[in-house]
This record gives sequence, C-alpha cells and structure tokens, in this order.
Amino acid sequence: VSGTRMVTCWMMVCLLATIEVFADPCPSFCYCDNIKHSVTCLKRNITEIPISIPQSSKKLDLRGNTIKVIPTGAFLPIPYLTHLNLQKSEIEKIEEGAFRGLGRLIYLNLGSNSITFIYQESFDGLSSLQQLILEKNRIEEIKPGAFTQLGFLNFLNLAENFLVYLPNMVFQGLQQIKWIRLSNNMLNNIADEAFAGLVTMKRLSLDSNELQFFPSDALSRLTGLTRLDLGKNPMTYLGEESVQMPSLKQLFVNNMALQDVSYKAFEKSPKLFMIEFQNNQLRVMQPLVGLDQLKKINLTGNPIQCNCYMRPFKEWSEKARIQADVICSMPSPFRGESLEAVKPINLRCDRYSLEVEEDPTPDPATAGKPKKEEDTIRCAENCDCKLDLQHASCENKGLRKIPKGFPAETRLLDMRRNDFYTVPKSAFSGMKNVVSLHLQNCKINELQPGAFLGLRKLIYLYLSENEISTINSAAFEGVNQLTYLYLDRNRFSLIPQGAFKLLPNLFSLHLQYNSINFLTEGTMGGIEKLRWLYLTGNNINYISARAFNSTEELEKLYLDENLLTEVPTQALKSMPVLEELRLSKNSIKEVGNGAFLPMAESLQHLYLDNMGLEKISNGAFSGLGPRLRSLYLEKNKLENVPSLDNFTRLEVINLNKNPLSCTCQLFHLRRWIDSVNLIVEATCALPPDFRGKKVKDVPFKNCPGQAPEKPKPSPKPKLRSKPSPKPKLKPSPTPKSKPKAVSKRAKTAKPKAKSSSKQRRT
Ligand SMILES: *[C@@H]1O[C@H](CO)[C@@H](O)[C@H](O)[C@H]1NC(C)=O
Ligand SMILES: *[C@@H]1O[C@H](CO)[C@@H](O)[C@H](O)[C@H]1NC(C)=O
Ligand SMILES: *[C@@H]1O[C@H](CO)[C@@H](O)[C@H](O)[C@H]1NC(C)=O
Ligand SMILES: *[C@@H]1O[C@H](CO)[C@@H](O)[C@H](O)[C@H]1NC(C)=O
Repeated sequence: VSGTRMVTCWMMVCLLATIEVFADPCPSFCYCDNIKHSVTCLKRNITEIPISIPQSSKKLDLRGNTIKVIPTGAFLPIPYLTHLNLQKSEIEKIEEGAFRGLGRLIYLNLGSNSITFIYQESFDGLSSLQQLILEKNRIEEIKPGAFTQLGFLNFLNLAENFLVYLPNMVFQGLQQIKWIRLSNNMLNNIADEAFAGLVTMKRLSLDSNELQFFPSDALSRLTGLTRLDLGKNPMTYLGEESVQMPSLKQLFVNNMALQDVSYKAFEKSPKLFMIEFQNNQLRVMQPLVGLDQLKKINLTGNPIQCNCYMRPFKEWSEKARIQADVICSMPSPFRGESLEAVKPINLRCDRYSLEVEEDPTPDPATAGKPKKEEDTIRCAENCDCKLDLQHASCENKGLRKIPKGFPAETRLLDMRRNDFYTVPKSAFSGMKNVVSLHLQNCKINELQPGAFLGLRKLIYLYLSENEISTINSAAFEGVNQLTYLYLDRNRFSLIPQGAFKLLPNLFSLHLQYNSINFLTEGTMGGIEKLRWLYLTGNNINYISARAFNSTEELEKLYLDENLLTEVPTQALKSMPVLEELRLSKNSIKEVGNGAFLPMAESLQHLYLDNMGLEKISNGAFSGLGPRLRSLYLEKNKLENVPSLDNFTRLEVINLNKNPLSCTCQLFHLRRWIDSVNLIVEATCALPPDFRGKKVKDVPFKNCPGQAPEKPKPSPKPKLRSKPSPKPKLKPSPTPKSKPKAVSKRAKTAKPKAKSSSKQRRT
C-alpha cells in the first residue's frame, strides 16, 4: 500500500514540476500574485486577451483596456479562471464560444462596454458561472437560448442597456437564477413567456423602463418572485387582477404615472407585505382586497383628496394595522397633513370639502380628473402634464380639436378617446421631443398632409381604432424616425400603396382588423426595411406572388384570421429571413409538399392551428429542420402528421384536438415523442380502442420498424398526470445550431415594440 502511495506522490511532484517549468512568466504589463493566483492588467491598452499568463491563474482583471472583440476560444489556454473582470474595455463583440473552456468561472464582469448583441452561444461553456454582469452596454437584442448553458447563474445584471423587447424563453436555462436586473432599459414589451420556467427567481428589477401597462401575463409566470421593482415606468393604471404573483411580498410602483388603481388589482397576490406607491397621480385609494398580510403602504407624493372617498381606506388601514403613509393634498385645510391625523368625521364630501373639485360628484373608481394645480407649470387646457415624467395626457376629454401648449420636454402625449375626426397640418408643431403619440379611438378619418410635422423624434404612433381608409404619403412628412405604426382597427380595404414611402425606418406595421381583401403586386413598395407586418383579422383571400417582392427583411408575418385557402408559398419566396409565420384560422384544408421551402432557412415559429386542416403532405415541411422552435397544429382535423424527425430542437409543439388515428401510420410520431423528451399533447380518436388515449401511451404493437416486443412489459407508468401547457425541450445532445448570419442585422437592429396593439384599459 505504501509503495503505491509513494508512486502517487512522485507523480504529484512531477506534475507540479511540469506546471512550474511550463508556467509562463508574468507579462510586463500585468501584475501577478502567485499566492492568490491573480493577475491584474489595468488600463494598459491591451487589445487582446493576454494568454501568456501563468496557466494556473484564477483571477484575471483586465479593466480599462481596448479589447474590441473577444474571439471564439479566447480563454482556452487559461482554463482555471474563477473570476474575470473585463469592465470598460471597449468590447463591442463577443463571438460565439468566446468563453469556451472556462468551466470553473464563477464571476464574469462585462459591464461598461459597447456590446450590442448577445448571440445564442455567446456564453457557452460557462457551466459554473454564478454572476454575470452586462450592465452599461448597448445591448438591443438577446437571442432566446443565449443563457441556456448557465445553469448555476444566480445573478444576471442587464441594467442600462437598450433593450426594448423581451422575447419568449429569453432566459431559458437559468435554473438557479435568483435576481435579474433589467433596470434602465427601454423595455416596452415583454412576451408572455419571457420569464417562463424561472421557478427559483426571487427578485426582478424592471424600474426605469418604458412599460405603459403592467405585463400581467409575463410576470404571473414568476411564481416564486418576492420582490418586484417597477418604479419609473409610464404606467397610468393598474386594473383588476393585474398583479397575479402568488409569492410577491414587496412591490415598488413608485414614480410612475398611476392615476387609478383598481381595488382588486392585487387580489391574486395575497402575500404582499409592502407596496410603494410614492409619486404617482393618485387622488384616491380604496381598501385593497385580498391583502391579509399587508403591513406597509406608502402613498406620499400623490395628490390624495382627503374627503369622504378616503374614509374607507383610512378605516381599513387602521383596522388591519397597516402603516399607511398618506399626505393629503386636498381639500386646502388638510393640505400637507397626514391622513392618519385627520378625524374620520372630517373626511367629508359636502360642498365645502369639494369646492376645489371640478366635478361635484367624483366617482372614486375613476378618480383622476385633471385639475389646475400649482405644480402644473404649463399645460394645454383640459390636459394633465407631469413634468418629471415628461408625460402629457388629454385622454377622454371630449376634445374636438387637437390641443396645443404642452411643455416642450413632453415625451409621451396621450390623446386617445377624443373626437378629432381630422388631424390638420402641423397639429403638433413644437413637440419636438415626443417619442410616443397616442391617438387611438379618436374618430379620425383624415390625416392631412404635414399632419405630424415637427414630431422629429416620433418613434411610436398609435392610430388604432379610428376610421381611416386611405393615407396620402405626405401625411408622414417630417417624421422619418417613425418606427412603429399602429393602424389596426381602421377602415382599410387595401394596403395604402406608397403611403409609407416617407418612413424609411418603419419597422413594425400594424394593419390587423381592417377589411383588406387582397394583397396585390408590389403592395409593400417603399417600405423595404419593414420587419414585422401584422395583417391578422382581415378578409384576405388572395396574395399575389409578387405582393412582397420588395420587403426582403420581413421577420414576422401575421396572416391569421383571414380567408386564405392555401399557404401562399409563392408570395413567401421573397422572405429569406422570415422567422415567424402565422396562418391560424384561415380555411386551409391541405398543406402540400414544399409549402415552406422558401423560408426553410429561417423559419422558427409556425402557426397552423384552427384551420380545419385535414392533410399535411409528407413533404410539406421539407427543408425545415432544427431551426424550427415552435409548431402549432392544434384544433384541426388531422388524422396523421408527417415525420417530425428533423425537428430536433423544437420547444413547443401542439397537436391538441386533432382526431389522430393511432394505427401504425402514426408510430413515427410516438418514436419521435420518445426521442425528443418533449411533453406532447396528442390524443388518439381512432381506432376505437385507443380513443382518448395519449399517443405516448399507445403500445403500437407489431408496427414496422418497431423493436421486437419484450416479454410482457409492465404497464407503462404515467409520467405526469398534469402536463404543463407549454412543453419544453430538455437539453438534448443534438449538435449546436450553426452560427447565424446575424452581423448585418446586429448592426441595424431596431428596437422592438409591442407585438400587438392589445391594450389594457378601463
Ligand atoms: C494608452 O493609450 C493612450 C492614448 O493612445 C495613451 O495616452 C496612454 O498613455 C496609453 N497607456 C498606456 C499604459 O500605454
Ligand atoms: C414613504 O416614502 C417617503 C418618500 O419616499 C419617505 O420619506 C417615507 O419615509 C416613506 N414612509 C414609510 C413609512 O416608509
Ligand atoms: C415589385 O413589383 C412592383 C410591381 O410589379 C414593381 O414596380 C417593383 O419594381 C418590384 N420591386 C422589386 C424590388 O422587384
Ligand atoms: C430530413 O432532412 C434530410 C436532410 O436534409 C432530408 O433528406 C429528409 O428528407 C428530411 N426528412 C423529412 C421527413 O423531411
């Protein structure tokens, strides 16, 4: 035994000696501490990762250098690193696989650089990483899958970037994440499944973004979250059940533009302990239902009216021993006084108390009437201007003419629900800082030439729910920054050809729920850069083969809820980068061979549900392969589906509500289900013996290609009694997808916007 030990010892010595001999000396421009195994090379204008440092180094500090690109495999020669700091090093690009080999790294700081894009494989190999700092970069887009390898990450800091949109599954794979910081971005849209699967997450920071509505669906996925920071978002309203977070304890909704909060807003968040409502525009607060554990509520900085409508709140908070910090702003005798100090009997609604109200009988549920207060510096009549938020609102004021006289710094101008009928020339002159203009629901039928002149920074224009049937291109003169245009729910029977030619930056065009019948040749002329086109809910029954001949950059095309009878394969030929195609709710009975070939190289999400689809040819999906990530086929009349064998990286598949015939013809589906580890909702209708049975539970005896039957296998245990609605792909051993041609897009990537015009209003 001792002999063996001797040999082992000798080998150790040899090994150590070898390391010593081959260890690189410390580069002259770095400082190496051989005891702590740390190397520091601060502000030395280094342009490449110094790999000629001692191989045993654990900590490498490279702050303040000039490393523009981190190439693939840059750290392979120094694999023992546990801490790596690359702050302020002018990094612009992280190539895919840049950190490969750093399987011991637990801390990576990439803050204060110029990174714009996170590739799918940017962080491959960092299998022990616990903290990833990406704050203060220029990240506009994160590809779903970018973090799939970071199974031990507990803190992800993405604050102070340029994110506008979070797509579904963007944080997939972060199985141990505790806190994600997204503060100080430009987020205005969060996809419903953006936070799906993050069961360990405790804290989320979304403060200082551009969320106009509480992202209820997306946040309700965070079932373990205890703290949510949402302050400084331009939200005006929290509706019934808008906060559905079963574990939430601390909620920060301060410094927003809240004018009204439903008393049922938090009913589905029973653990709430503290709500911070400071610095909003709340005039009244009702007792909040469902909050048995609430102990603190802070309403300072709101123009609270201490009248009879605050009495229930006072009684409720005192009875439940809630520490409520409320300072009265009206009526004048109580101004500056805390609600606590006002006797309930003095909280009155008699004439005297209401002298300052415009409306003698305000409805507490819709409190938030505009008033002329001292803190309103300059604002159009009948409108509310909130200087610190750079917001102005004249929503639903019965206005017949577009008002003028807003503070010049206004960024968001909300005029929805008035009766303007027309937008005359230069209606918004002088509003050179407005980024977002809301004109929904204003009975508008005409946009005069030069209507938006002066709105030089306008990016979002909401014209939904009006009566526009035609647009002269001159209407958009002077707003060439316009990126998102909402024309849904108007009266278009055609796409107004040429109307958008003065909008070179148009990225997303909403035309859903009009009455467009067909798309003719060259119909999209002039908007070559369009990426997202929404045509849901029109009457489209014909699409010319050359309808989209000029929109080569289209990524999303929504053609659902129309009258198409076949997949418009010819028209789709000019869409080499199409990623998402929705054809749901058309009446397409059959999908033929090669139907998706033109976009086979790019398509990721395909919606073919609710169509009455009876047959999909065997070659219908030809060309589509591992790139496809979701496939929706539910609610059709399919008895069979073609082979899905090439779909190795599918994350979502829905075959629900199809009358599948579970004979040997479907054995391939069963085999595929087993091989991909997906939970697939697919139920047999035939043969009668198997009606109602899950495809995965059907034995498929004696089918060709099946392994010879084993001697009587015991009945298959049910793996899962309640399948989750969104089946997910477990990491499968398939090879990684090829690096994508993203460089061009990374450079020109535009901020992304709301994917639908659905808006939560009272
Ligand atoms: C780095 O470059 C800057 C500007 O070129 C120069 O002023 C500075 O002295 C350099 N620093 C080092 C450590 O070489
Ligand atoms: C409520 O907020 C104000 C302003 O942020 C702060 O000064 C005050 O201490 C808070 N009250 C409580 C009870 O925390
Ligand atoms: C698209 O078709 C229209 C109408 O036929 C034509 O005027 C235009 O030049 C075409 N554009 C391209 C890029 O082929
Ligand atoms: C799967 O991909 C291979 C290689 O691209 C192709 O030959 C085959 O036809 C595909 N199978 C199906 C069912 O589409």
